[in-house]
Amino acid sequence: MKGLRHIAVIMDGNGRWAAAHRKARISGHRAGADALDRMMHYCRDEGVEFLTVYAFSTENWKRSKLEVSGLMKLLSSYIDKKKEELKANKVRFRVIGRRQDLSNSIQKKIAALEEYTKDGDFTLVVALSYGARDEILRAAKAFARDAITSGGKNLEALKEDDFAKYLDTSDIPDPDLIIRTSGELRLSNFLLWQAAYAEFYFTDTLWPDFDREQFDKAIESFSHRERRLGARLK
Ligand code: FPP
Repeated sequence: MKGLRHIAVIMDGNGRWAAAHRKARISGHRAGADALDRMMHYCRDEGVEFLTVYAFSTENWKRSKLEVSGLMKLLSSYIDKKKEELKANKVRFRVIGRRQDLSNSIQKKIAALEEYTKDGDFTLVVALSYGARDEILRAAKAFARDAITSGGKNLEALKEDDFAKYLDTSDIPDPDLIIRTSGELRLSNFLLWQAAYAEFYFTDTLWPDFDREQFDKAIESFSHRERRLGARLK
């Protein structure tokens, strides 16, 4: 759809899905990973070029050791299992967030997959150990470092876009549509800077149950905004 280049998703409700199916929480996350695979196909069909997913927040480290290690294992095996499929489908894999918080072995796998898939024409951005305030603070520090190095020259002339180059998403367009599943109406420290002009779509559906019908509804709500705002967009 026109004007819909980038969709970002807060994939919420895996735990509730698992509880509803009398399964362990990690089964909910596994079903969430399957929903992510389906979502990539829906996006491709719709001509979307970027999909960003909130897979692990800076807050998620506070979850039980069992859940954190389960999620890390899931991520690691996802990379191993999907490597060839992502490459074959021309999916460019990217990670944003504090990747230095992840284990060395996962960091290596991520870097290898980013390199292996760098020529893809559809970008999957996975937010890992991600928090938007942390991202903005890191960017501000790097920005200040450069400003000091250059003796503060041209500081007043700097624009928003100049600052955005310091964010993890420097080479990724802002999301046009942000979807949050499972009934919460919050941004939870996700893409705070980048969400400035995004449309939001909230649904009670739990992330593992998010299907084509749900996707179409989200797109439909986005298309209304296009009609509403038209040339006034932004
Ligand atoms: C939120 O549901 C979901 C997460 C914290 C993890 C999301 C991770 C995946 C879907 C794994 C797939 C990603 C990759 C790249 C392999 P919740 O646990 O907060 O659910 P609840 O609110 O119902 O408890």
